[in-house]
Amino acid sequence: MPDAIFDHPRIARVYDPLDPDRSDLHTYVNLVDEFGATAVLDVGCGTGTFCCGLADRGIRVLGVDPAGASVAVAQTKAGANRVTWVVGTVLDVAANQSHRRQYDLATMTANVAQVFLEDKEWLANLRAIRTCLRPGGRIAFESRVPSDQAWNRWTKKLTQRLGRHPYRRSPQHTGQGLTASNPDHPSRCNTALSSTGGGIVHSYVTVRYDPPRGLINLHASTNVDAWRLIE
Ligand SMILES: C[S@@+](CC[C@H](N)C(=O)[O-])C[C@H]1O[C@@H](n2cnc3c(N)ncnc32)[C@H](O)[C@@H]1O
Repeated sequence: MPDAIFDHPRIARVYDPLDPDRSDLHTYVNLVDEFGATAVLDVGCGTGTFCCGLADRGIRVLGVDPAGASVAVAQTKAGANRVTWVVGTVLDVAANQSHRRQYDLATMTANVAQVFLEDKEWLANLRAIRTCLRPGGRIAFESRVPSDQAWNRWTKKLTQRLGRHPYRRSPQHTGQGLTASNPDHPSRCNTALSSTGGGIVHSYVTVRYDPPRGLINLHASTNVDAWRLIE
């Protein structure tokens, strides 16, 4: 079940305007080039910025995400008609024989790797990805470094801002912040985003904060041949 921030139509549409700087994707584009990937599976594609950018470069791309509202935003972008979109999870993709052993590279950009809260879920998704990769295929994902304690900077004061909603005429109040550690899961954080105009929508996202090496060690237990840490 995707979080409302990604699956509520009004909130999904402010995902890109709230975070317009996507220089974080350069690392992934560099990996596509380095590996000479011609087919990419983007897991948790969200609003599709990465997928559409790759399609523009002539790369065959499948973007999958359970949040239909985000995929709907993705489908409005230039180049979207050259991308294969799946609303679902990579388990759904892997269940379809036609997607097996098709991709050189699977990506999980931004905090996608952190949405899998339990080890079992993370491993099941990695295994599904693996069945979609060609021999020698690679998986690239990222995780925020927990010791940075970024959530301490996600306060209302530091993050809330007033912006014009891209699909509404009058200025709308759009905020991101109000983060609190979840006392039941110290390695998890909740973030909230709200947008007024037609009622306030609050959305809480829970992401996993485990040391990257912890994620990689789990990754290793799915028979991955080698890994590289880019810091
Ligand atoms: C922070 S967004 C990143 C979106 C996109 N990768 C980007 O770089 O903008 C996290 C994404 O993970 C997706 N997600 C949540 N649960 C998922 C799952 N089980 N499988 C794949 N993606 C999932 C969310 O719907 C959301 O689009």
